[in-house]
Amino acid sequence: MTDLDRHDATESAADRDRLHPGILVVGPNPAMDRTEEIEDFRPHEVNRATVSSPRAGGKSFIVARALRRLGNPVSAYGFLGGATGQYLRDECAKLGIRDRHTEIDDDTRINTILVDERTRLSTVINEPGPVVSPAETVALTTAVADDLRAGDLLILTGSLPRGTGDDLYARLIELGRSRGARVIVDAERAALVSAVAARPWAVKCNLHEFHGIAPDAPRDLFDETDRVRLVAAMRSTVDTGVALVVVTLGAEGLVAVTATDILHVEAAIVETKNATGSGDTFLAGFASALSAGADLPEALRFGAAAASANAAVLIPDIGPDPQLDDLLARTHIRSEPLGHVEKLGVRR
Ligand SMILES: Nc1ncnc2c1ncn2[C@@H]1O[C@H](COP(=O)(O)OP(=O)(O)OP(=O)(O)O)[C@@H](O)[C@H]1O
Ligand SMILES: [Mg+2]
Repeated sequence: MTDLDRHDATESAADRDRLHPGILVVGPNPAMDRTEEIEDFRPHEVNRATVSSPRAGGKSFIVARALRRLGNPVSAYGFLGGATGQYLRDECAKLGIRDRHTEIDDDTRINTILVDERTRLSTVINEPGPVVSPAETVALTTAVADDLRAGDLLILTGSLPRGTGDDLYARLIELGRSRGARVIVDAERAALVSAVAARPWAVKCNLHEFHGIAPDAPRDLFDETDRVRLVAAMRSTVDTGVALVVVTLGAEGLVAVTATDILHVEAAIVETKNATGSGDTFLAGFASALSAGADLPEALRFGAAAASANAAVLIPDIGPDPQLDDLLARTHIRSEPLGHVEKLGVRR
C-alpha cells in the first residue's frame, strides 16, 4: 500500500459500493464576473460599455463548471448572499451543480473586467467580498460534514472572505481526514500556510504561490539546478505529511512529488488565448480522472490536458463538449528517479 492509498484506508463497505467517489468543491469567496467591453477605454473619464456580460466566476465555479463539462456530478459549497448570490444559485441550476452553498446576510461580490476593444487589454477590479459571521462559517462546515463520505474528493479552492479566520481550510482538512476523504487544496498565502500545516492529501499551487510557503523553492525555473531545487522543496513539503504536492508551471506543465515518485508533465503546446483558470481546470480534470479510477500519472496527464484546453480559449471554460483526446496524446509525463535530488547534493 502506498502513502497515496493509505488516506483511503478508512473507507467503509457501504461507501465502496458507490459507483464513483463524490466530488465536493468548496469555494468560500465566489463571485459574479462582469465583463464590460468598451470601444476605447479611458481612465478618469466616463466610458460607455458596448457589451456587458455576467458570468459565474471565482475559482470554485471554474472547477465545478469544468467538472460538469467532463460529466461528473459535483456539489458546491461556499457563501452566497444578496442578488449576486441568487444569480450564482441560478447558474448552479443551469449547470447541474448541486447547490450546497450557505446563505449569508452580506452580498456576494462582483468582479469587473473592463476590456478595451481597441487594444484587447483588460483592467480587472476584484472586490474583497462579503464579511461572514461565525454562525455562517459553522453552517458551511456543517453542510460539508453532512455530505462528506469516505473515499470522496474534497477540493478547497480560492481565497477566504473576511470573518472565517485563516484556518477554515485547516478545519475542513481535519474533517476530511477523519472521514477518510482525500482533500486537495489550491490556495495562497495565510490560507495555504495553515492548510499545509493541517496535512491535506494534496496541495496544488503555481510556482509563485509555492515559493510563498517554501522560501527554498526557486522563484523561476531557468535551468536544471532550479528544477532540482524545486523538487527538493516539494519533497520537504511531502515530508511534513502532505501525500502529494503539485506545482504547476503554466505552459511548461507541472511537477508532482509524493514520498515515492517525482513526475514531470509537459503540457501540450496550444495557441494560448487566456491561461487564467488553467490551474482550476487542471484540478477539475485531475479529480474527474481520479474519481473514474485513474492512477496518479494518468490523472495528472488528464488534468494537464484539460488545463491546456482552457488556455486555448478566451474565457475560462472547456466548452460543453470538451474534446481532449488530441491534447492528451500531446501531454507527456516522465518519472524522475527518486535518488536524483540527493545525488545532486541539494540541501533539503
Ligand atoms: N499556455 C499554456 N499552454 C498549454 N498549457 C497550459 C498553458 N498555461 C497553463 N497550461 C496548463 O495548465 C496548468 C495550470 O496552469 P498555471 O500554472 O497557469 O495555473 P494557475 O497559475 O494556478 O492558474 P489559475 O490560478 O489562473 O487557474 C499547467 O500545469 C499546464 O498544464
Ligand atoms: Mg491557481
